[in-house]
Formats: sequence, structure tokens, C-alpha cells
Amino acid sequence: TIQNAKQMMQKAQKGHYALGAFNTNNLEWTQAILRRAQENQAPTILAVSMGAVQYMGGFKVVANLVRNLDEALEITVPIAIHLDHGTYEGAKQAIEAGFTSVMFDGSALPLAENLAKTKEIVARAQAANVSVEAEVGSIGGEEDGVVGEGELAAIDDAVLMTETGIDFLAAGIGNIHGIYPQNWRGLHLDHLEQLSAAVTTARGQAMPIVLHGASGIPDDQIQAAIQLGVAKVNVNTELQLAFHNATRQFVETDQDLSGKNYDPRKFLKPGVTAIEQALDERIAVFGNANRI
Ligand code: G3H
Ligand code: ZN
Repeated sequence: TIQNAKQMMQKAQKGHYALGAFNTNNLEWTQAILRRAQENQAPTILAVSMGAVQYMGGFKVVANLVRNLDEALEITVPIAIHLDHGTYEGAKQAIEAGFTSVMFDGSALPLAENLAKTKEIVARAQAANVSVEAEVGSIGGEEDGVVGEGELAAIDDAVLMTETGIDFLAAGIGNIHGIYPQNWRGLHLDHLEQLSAAVTTARGQAMPIVLHGASGIPDDQIQAAIQLGVAKVNVNTELQLAFHNATRQFVETDQDLSGKNYDPRKFLKPGVTAIEQALDERIAVFGNANRI
């Protein structure tokens, strides 16, 4: 069932588990995420980046695809269709197209502009019953071959962002997107604890925190972060690697074409199975199975 992510997130935070926010890219990915969510009875966020929206044919195509699959696959667990790292224009278009949740990522903007634009998105989203995520500081990743050190979001900035009326907050605590470098020093859980306490006080109720770039963070660190207020864990690269590795192995080892392995329905199967396994494992680690 497609819905706003607000209640799902609040329930997750109260229950000390986290929703998986899994990025989709195409039909196979979307089906796999919906099926594993249902099978695990796990409320789930289906995340779509700006690039994936473009790749799949636009906001309407994505929203309609997910809604149609939700119905056809008889998905009864809560599912949010969420724009991941949206631009200002992108967030507006997603709201109009029927997404039920949007991230406005103004982290590259000066703080005042990030706050002002987030407020505008919140007003539009609330009118359409859409939940909003915003980001303070900047969760880096590989840029031009240089992997930045995970930045720590300033607590004052996080408090100001909380006051815009957002439903959940992305804040850097040493996490980065993509593959972690060998010398990565881990999550700054002490910073998360202070930040979470400050935004909770500012809001007068718990503010769910979003952990971006979760691919490759050790499970015990993810689980510790969940106990300190993280209620949404974003995973993209890990599913891509799982799909890539399984597909590559299939191509390298299974070269007999007499069984029509070149049929995309067969060719893509090992990759899809690998994604499904990775999803089951992530859902278990986040503690969000059987949370209906
Ligand atoms: O917003 C998406 C995530 O933060 C995914 O990061 O590709 O490192 O798993 P990841
Ligand atoms: Zn992210």
C-alpha cells in the first residue's frame, strides 16, 4: 500500500528499528524491492534518485509504475515512493506526480537558502500529504576520484532545519556515499547522539534521522546508529554491486546459448536473485521485518 512515510518513520523510531530505503533503477529492481518488503512484512521506502527518474522516463512513469506494481503484486505492507536527493524543481514535480515522500537536498546551498527552500517544499508537501526529508551539512562521497572524509553536520544547523517542519532529517555523522575507503574511521556515534538529542528538544518530539551511504558500513555500527535515533537507512551501491557481481559471474561461467540464456528474462535472473538476497539481509539487520 502506497503511503506517506511520516507515520512509518515515527513508528520505526519508537520501535527502535529502521526502514530500509532502497534505490530502484528499473522494473526488475522495483519488483524485487516490493516483493521482499511484502515477504518480510517490512514497511519500506522505495527511493528514486533524480538520475533514476530520468532514466526510467520521468516522475509520472515512476509513480505510475510503482502504484501499478503495488496493486498487481498485492502489496499490503506500507510503501513510500520517495524522491532521493531531489532538487528544488525535482521535489515540486515529484509531489505533483504522486510521489508520497520527497527529499529536498539543498546541502550544496548556503544554509539560509537551504532552509528557505526547504520551508517552501514543506508547505507544498503538507498540502499534498507528502512527507519531507532535508539535509544539513553535506554527505560526501567520491568526487573526481577523491573520496572526501565524512563530514559531521553542525548541530545548530540541524536544529534550524528541524524548525522548518520537515518529517525526517539527513545529517552527516561520518558516513559517505559509495564504496568506503580502506582508511575510513567509522561512524561518529557520539555526534549522532548529541545531534539526535538536540533536534528532539527543538522539535518537542523525536526527529527521525536518516543514515545515507549505508552500503559497506559494518552492521554493528548501523545497529548502534538505529538505537541512537536513525529510523531510515539508505542503501544503493550495495544492491548495484550484488546485481553486478552475480550478472558478471553468470556471463563468465554460463556461455552455452542453447538454453537461450540471452533471453533477458533469464539473463537478468541471477542479478535479481542477488538483489533479493541482499534485501532480505538488510531488512534483517535493520530490524524491520514483521513490523506491520
Ligand atoms: O541516498 C542514497 C543513499 O545514501 C545510498 O548510498 O549508494 O552508498 O548505499 P550508497
Ligand atoms: Zn544519499
